Amino acid sequence: MKKFAVAATFAAALMGTTAIHATELEVTHWWTSGGEAAAVAEFARAFEEAGYTWIDGAIAGGGGTARPVMISRITGGDPMGATQFNHGRQAEELVEAGLMLDLTEVAEAEGWRDFIHPTSLLDSCTLDGRIYCVPVNIHSWQWLWLSHKAFEDAGVPVPTNWDEFAAAAPALEAAGKIPLAMGNQPWQSSGAFGVLAIAIAGSEAWEAVNIDKNADVAGGEEYARVFEAAAAAREFRKNSNVQDWNQATNMVITGQAGGQIMGDWAQGEFQVAGQVAGEDYSCLPGLGVNEIISTGGDAFYFPKLNDPEKEAAQLALASLMVSPEVQVAFNLKKGSLPIRGDVDLEAANDCMKKGLEILAGGNILPDGNQTLSPDTQGQIEDLMTEFWSSDSISAEDAQRRYAAIIAQAD
Ligand code: GAL
Repeated sequence: MKKFAVAATFAAALMGTTAIHATELEVTHWWTSGGEAAAVAEFARAFEEAGYTWIDGAIAGGGGTARPVMISRITGGDPMGATQFNHGRQAEELVEAGLMLDLTEVAEAEGWRDFIHPTSLLDSCTLDGRIYCVPVNIHSWQWLWLSHKAFEDAGVPVPTNWDEFAAAAPALEAAGKIPLAMGNQPWQSSGAFGVLAIAIAGSEAWEAVNIDKNADVAGGEEYARVFEAAAAAREFRKNSNVQDWNQATNMVITGQAGGQIMGDWAQGEFQVAGQVAGEDYSCLPGLGVNEIISTGGDAFYFPKLNDPEKEAAQLALASLMVSPEVQVAFNLKKGSLPIRGDVDLEAANDCMKKGLEILAGGNILPDGNQTLSPDTQGQIEDLMTEFWSSDSISAEDAQRRYAAIIAQAD
């Protein structure tokens, strides 16, 4: 916290003001589940301990609901003090419009580029050489979470990969379990498809489609196998009648469902439920097929408020979010990996340790939010919402429509 105190003093001195009253910042985010709330409380605690006031602006319904609210407030002249976006291109137009605070000075003064790893996280915050956000974690979508109770009740061993999971589905159903839990929001079915793609088509094919926008690969043999697997998974999830991702996670926690394809923010839910990795649940990175970590996750952006005192508080919050102490406290609760390699997560559970090992081994891929525009992401989400909710669309039809989206992707 020492480094942070220095930065805060510097910021206050710079503005020639002493904080005779606690400067308050409204912070918007979409972290409303048990685990998410516990994690964001760590940011609020540290900010308040530094003498500021955190006004919590949680928006329920997931990122797909929250981001349009955040963007319209910023463009509509009612900006918050700080807001969450995912790593990548979601705030690109706000930055290009000059609406967001330039953090380059504090980033250079504190050497962010020296300790933020991978530096691609900071690249996602950078436009024309200037830095406009602070990365706070690494969240990988690439996980399958498995309920030990569900497989025990079904009399089958806990799977070690996707094929074993698919083979166990009939036994799960016979035991009255839902094989695959999935909420009914577009980002969830689109995210699950992306995880199947990396596991079944492989990293190279995924990069060809998501980075090179190669529509031939999107329409080709490797992705045909992905759509076939997705059609099978559509059957596994058909009775999973919940909305939010953490409701689906709760089905795994209680043993009503065998598994869930979900990002490692699900860890926070298992923790809040008091469940132990390796005893109550298992986690398969890359579905146990292609053990990779994708560098998704979250960053905070700071709308320009034209208020020197508020700006000092914004810079202090940015500095605090990357500090070692806060990085450990926040990420352990969030189930995500820290953005810096010089902290010791000795309290990390087995699943987080698996993620840290894969990250250290360099087997990483960018997240779709870092490679595709929000518009392309939205088109894919619309297709996936249709495909995953009804078997009226064949795997072949869905793949043809997917390839057409990739052909126009930006
Ligand atoms: C993601 C975000 C995570 C997470 C998840 C579910 O976009 O990166 O922090 O909490 O949404 O809300």
